[in-house]
Amino acid sequence: MNDNNIILKVEHLTKMFGIKKAAAREMLKKGMSKEEILKQIEVTVAVDDVSFEVERGKIFALIGLSGSGKSTVVRCLNMLQPPTSGKVYFEGNDIEKYSKDELRNYRRHKISMVFQSFGLMSHRDVLGNVAYGLEIRGIGKKEREEKAMEMISMVGLDGWENTHIDSLSGGMRQRVGIARALANDPDILLMDEPFSALDPLVRREMQFELLSIQENLNKTVVFITHDIDEAFKLGNTVAIMRDGKLIQTATPEEMSSNPADDYVRDFINSADKSQIYSVKNIMQTPSCMVHARNGANQALKQMRDNGVSSAYIVGDKLQFIGILTLEQALKVRSGELSMEDGMITGLPTTTPDTHISDLIPIAAEAPYPIAVVDEKNQLKGIVSKAAVLGSLI
Ligand SMILES: Nc1ncnc2c1ncn2[C@@H]1O[C@H](COP(=O)(O)OP(=O)(O)OP(=O)(O)O)[C@@H](O)[C@H]1O
Ligand SMILES: [Mg+2]
Repeated sequence: MNDNNIILKVEHLTKMFGIKKAAAREMLKKGMSKEEILKQIEVTVAVDDVSFEVERGKIFALIGLSGSGKSTVVRCLNMLQPPTSGKVYFEGNDIEKYSKDELRNYRRHKISMVFQSFGLMSHRDVLGNVAYGLEIRGIGKKEREEKAMEMISMVGLDGWENTHIDSLSGGMRQRVGIARALANDPDILLMDEPFSALDPLVRREMQFELLSIQENLNKTVVFITHDIDEAFKLGNTVAIMRDGKLIQTATPEEMSSNPADDYVRDFINSADKSQIYSVKNIMQTPSCMVHARNGANQALKQMRDNGVSSAYIVGDKLQFIGILTLEQALKVRSGELSMEDGMITGLPTTTPDTHISDLIPIAAEAPYPIAVVDEKNQLKGIVSKAAVLGSLI
């Protein structure tokens, strides 16, 4: 991977709370547990030798039980808390070496935080909240309000700009929080359990919203959650923490097929599998794929050779056209039907990156395995109802 793609790099990050940090370090080296260290010398080892890289334009999900050190890691990324030891690099620069001005610039323009508790100003309306960051940067009223309105629209709050924060629902407040963070146009959004306080339906909506914002604006997101389903749904990479340590960093697929230890395995077992797998993980090559120009005879031959009763018909550039069943193919061969009339067209299709959870309703209705096509409508594979259901077990 090109190093330019790494926007944040964390190396051997350790964060302790308490006075006797040097003693704590010695005790850690001797293999003493965090509870013992806390009991003996009142030092909390919140983050213990954590290293990871965040790719530009991707969502990095950090997950772990309460107290495992997630928030502390994130607070070190914007120097809200300085590391006890270890390094954080933004685009290759050690952020601890930033001057005051550089640090201010980093916080204002490069990295923005979205909190679970929203942190909004209740005496201001939506517009006033979203424009706040631009206001303190001294940006003129017209420009900041234009930018704010753009972000309000981006999070789906058109028409709510003059509403007071108090009269908004939790989901809407979180949208305001996101719009406010986006108004600064940061490269990185830090989101510390932003959706935890929302009810499940609104939460799902917000996850979808975040994914579409991320796709449109190409932001890098560091997303904290204690919910494995959320981590797998949103994260391109998922990192799992336990007792201040990073246990595994991997894609959802890698993590679920190869968990580092029982802790990770237990976490994954509690996950909804349909959120982990995409269509590309379960699709198969169609055993009977026939060019439309080759006609019914060829289709019949292939069906016979492969022991199947339908053929996937494609055009010259392998674009998916439809399905020809054995029965219909016979009618086409006898001249009773034309190839066009014999084919079943207009069938639902899916794409390799579709989450299986989104395919379940389509698969349930589909009489034939669903065609998987790319953006050019080229047939990439097929996915059967059995494969969809089998992936959920
Ligand atoms: N300012 C602080 N002073 C002392 N101890 C702290 C401080 N901040 C965090 N800790 C301790 O560090 C450990 C890690 O806390 P942290 O908030 O990072 O966990 P978390 O994974 O974000 O948990 P949660 O899911 O509950 O938010 C905890 O034991 C916590 O009590
Ligand atoms: Mg936390």
